[in-house]
Amino acid sequence: MITNEELFQIAKEIVKNSYSPYSNFPVGAAVLYEDGTIYKGVNVENSSLGLTLCAERNAISTAIAQGQKGKIEAIAIYAPKEKMCAPCGACRQWIWEFSNNGNTRIIIEGENGGLYETTIKELLPLGFNL
Ligand code: THU
Repeated sequence: MITNEELFQIAKEIVKNSYSPYSNFPVGAAVLYEDGTIYKGVNVENSSLGLTLCAERNAISTAIAQGQKGKIEAIAIYAPKEKMCAPCGACRQWIWEFSNNGNTRIIIEGENGGLYETTIKELLPLGFNL
């Protein structure tokens, strides 16, 4: 069973691949599925700025493209320039889509240097279901 620290470390390692020349705000994400598989993503920016893809959605898209059908157990997000870098609103809805009753754990860097853990249902109360 992978620890929060290990998952966060994976997000930390992948951030070097971020393509963020416009904001200079790199982000890395590591998504752990209930079957134990981990997928990684980074933010990918574009000169047409509104087309930017966040690290979290990149990681989740990768999982889906690889055939992952399960629920997300946890996601670790690392942004070297900001502690407590919580997922944006769009990413919250994406995480909600693949969470098990909103219980997906969100792991980010805490203010004190340790890790901060919350859940997607805490970050997105009454997430949208179609
Ligand atoms: N970003 C993410 O990758 N994830 C988030 O949840 C928030 C923002 C990226 C998008 C953009 O490339 C940069 O951070 C600055 O907004």
